[in-house]
Amino acid sequence: MTFFDSSIAGRGEAGSKLILFGEHAVVHGTSAIAAGLEKGISATATFCDEPSSIYIKEWNISGNVSGNSTLDIALKKLLNSLFVKDKNIKIIASSHIPPGGGLGSSASLGAASAIAVGRLLDLSLTSADIENAVKESESVFHNNPSGVDAAAVLYKGLFLFNKITGVKKIEAELPELLVFDTGVSASTAQSVDIFTDRLENDLLGVQNLNRIKSIVEEAVNALVTKDIGTLGALMSENHEILKWFGVSSPELDDICNISLKYFSPGAKMTGGGRGGCAIVLVSEKTDVNGMMMEMTQKGYKRVI
Ligand code: MEV
Repeated sequence: MTFFDSSIAGRGEAGSKLILFGEHAVVHGTSAIAAGLEKGISATATFCDEPSSIYIKEWNISGNVSGNSTLDIALKKLLNSLFVKDKNIKIIASSHIPPGGGLGSSASLGAASAIAVGRLLDLSLTSADIENAVKESESVFHNNPSGVDAAAVLYKGLFLFNKITGVKKIEAELPELLVFDTGVSASTAQSVDIFTDRLENDLLGVQNLNRIKSIVEEAVNALVTKDIGTLGALMSENHEILKWFGVSSPELDDICNISLKYFSPGAKMTGGGRGGCAIVLVSEKTDVNGMMMEMTQKGYKRVI
């Protein structure tokens, strides 16, 4: 028998994100350029009799606060950060983005869930409360999240993000990009460890981190001046450096190489890497049809 009126529900929505430049380096204190996109994850929270749980329909994944999986722990941390561990809440989520694809799925899930729970319980959450809840739940997936994903799923448009200074809007439009999914899902926490290990143990680590820092500065300028040629060259260079750090994958490199063959000005992996998605810049010279055909043949699906 149910003691709660399951027609009382809280609903929340959060977007997805693309990191254009500076992922991984942002964990170590430099800035990244990200874009918050409209479509991400929506969630509905209702009261229930059982221990609190979460289910994501499209991924067919569930978790609950009595378990010990990554999702179970993330849910526990999310609810604890909202001070609602004594309530039984069921969250059902629906996703437009793939899990572990570098598009901010874990942050979007955390944000949509926090908003839904906040509305169910009339918590009047501020955006700082929501960002904090996302960071708490994301720490399970990311070890040491910079906060760029949490910011990007909550804010729309292009911005510069830094761990210390937060979000700074970039007065420019998002350039025309195609996003391709390798179909490989990878753990961001492991990618962050791989990057950090190389940074700390290879003599060229700091030099390459500093080059990413300069690329980000040059890219802000190229975005504002709409210099697509420079932007593409910077994307490809950023990709090569991420590859050097060990966080690319054969599929991500393949997507970038195919893009260049069809006259894209530049392409790179986005997010944690070792799988997930790559972003491809498009100009009037790009043979989009040819590129789409080869990507489809190779099984790289266009997303967003
Ligand atoms: C993941 O989307 C972005 C990383 O830079 C990790 C982070 O900033 O928390 C790889």
